[in-house]
Amino acid sequence: MQITGDTYTYPSWSQLLSHKEQWQTTLAELFVSAPTRTQDFSLQAAGLYLDYSKNHLTAETLGLLTNIAKEAKLPEAVAGLLGGDIVNNTENRPALHTALRFQGAPSTPEQEVVAETLEKMSPFVRSLHDGEWLGQSGKPITDVVNIGIGGSDLGPRMVVTALADVKKASPQVHFVANIDGADLSDVVKTLNPETTLFIVASKSFSTLETRENALAAREWVMQGGCAEADLHKHFVAVSSNIKAAVEFGIAEQNIFPMWDWVGGRYSLWSAIGLPIAIAIGMDGFQSLLKGANAMDQHFAEAPIESNMPMLMALITFWYSACWGYNNQAILPYAQRMSRLPAYLQQLDMESLGKQVDRNGQPLKHHTGLVLWGTEGTNGQHSFHQLLHQGTQGVLVDFIGSVKPMSPLDGHHTHLMSNCIAQSQALLTGKSLETATKELLDGGASASDAETLAPHKVIPGNRPSNTLLLEQLNPESLGALIALYEHKVFCLGTLWGLNPYDQWGVELGKQLGAKVYPALTGEPLPENWDGSTKALVELVNKGSL
Ligand code: F6P
Repeated sequence: MQITGDTYTYPSWSQLLSHKEQWQTTLAELFVSAPTRTQDFSLQAAGLYLDYSKNHLTAETLGLLTNIAKEAKLPEAVAGLLGGDIVNNTENRPALHTALRFQGAPSTPEQEVVAETLEKMSPFVRSLHDGEWLGQSGKPITDVVNIGIGGSDLGPRMVVTALADVKKASPQVHFVANIDGADLSDVVKTLNPETTLFIVASKSFSTLETRENALAAREWVMQGGCAEADLHKHFVAVSSNIKAAVEFGIAEQNIFPMWDWVGGRYSLWSAIGLPIAIAIGMDGFQSLLKGANAMDQHFAEAPIESNMPMLMALITFWYSACWGYNNQAILPYAQRMSRLPAYLQQLDMESLGKQVDRNGQPLKHHTGLVLWGTEGTNGQHSFHQLLHQGTQGVLVDFIGSVKPMSPLDGHHTHLMSNCIAQSQALLTGKSLETATKELLDGGASASDAETLAPHKVIPGNRPSNTLLLEQLNPESLGALIALYEHKVFCLGTLWGLNPYDQWGVELGKQLGAKVYPALTGEPLPENWDGSTKALVELVNKGSL
């Protein structure tokens, strides 16, 4: 798709653009000229602290961005989202993931069914913890394997990894997603089929990977001595397609419902979160919901200027629309949050990677950024070189915890020094003068210093956000995830698109279903392109 210059119809758009064109200040200068900058450009909400002062922003910028948010009717859109409007217009559905984490007594039909489902989850989870759920040979379940992919995998896997600290001793929770058989075989090779329970997690119950893995798991359990009549002791499912789950062979009483008003990538708060509840207990799961609900309240109530998800979205909008940024790095300085970037990749890119507006008209501006990242400090010894000296602009979110996440306090101090120093380095950089002086002070000759110094120059003046949790726990993690969910919604509104469909993934599935027969003996269609035919022939040949 060719976009030569972003164009918006917002009345304030030209003002924002000329504000950018006149931009001359550096980040360092902004800090010098306003001693209260950090207080002015930071806020706390739902137990999270956001420092967005290391961005190319002034009060004037924020004023213009706020105007754009109003012109996009962002507050009205948020009210519509939370109130159950059909925000997913191409699938004619609301997106009521916020109803999954309501607090107090249920007050809507959606909250009623959510409460019923939590009540069904609770004894099931307890029976696993208490060793009361027995496998076919009468032994308690020691291992639970979640079979699901995309939204039925990434969220629960990320949360279970992040909250390892509050994990129950038993059962152990594992995840299988890929259609590469190595995934399932690697997981089950250390497990006992007599004491393993599978959760088949699929909103649609029609996803190829999940179906094939579930079939293979059933085979494995039966090879372990389980009669067909006892399979219900080893398989439960989570789905909105109860009929398909029953037809697959899951006992009806073992099916936990979800609903079409919950998008797959927004579903970890539903029964799709069973692996989370099993790993950390129902209390922990409820705390996760509580944290997310606190962010929902903030999102619903705070004015644009102090609304954390709205501000984060407006900052991304500003950089994407006016500065040409198309990359977003997520850098959690927390080993246990290593899965956060992968989770956010689906949340953000499956939601915002769109080329038409809500009415199907081509957009005249860029949309979703490429999101990637890894846990700090590991990334520093890998791609941070590009962040500091590369020619591509990258937006960076640093995420850290004030309190240590392990008994090794000293490690935490190093971890957070690095986290803080990285955003400082992006801001300040290193001048030619400083690089030269450092070389001379280190004993280099004047000529060597002159040759080497340009390689050591770091331009700086590069933006970043820093998000701090007081402590990594279910509540703060819930708030953090909800923050990014809402940021995505705001960007969808500002960009004029529907963030709740994902038609782009369908063509690959359709074509995959046509390539499969060609790899299993059917003749290749004449009209296929040469590359596709050659690849199929090579795989069929079985050697290069
Ligand atoms: O292929 C994309 C997708 O539809 C995601 O949106 C979804 O999270 C994933 O597949 C899994 O879908 P399901 O839960 O229906 O198996």
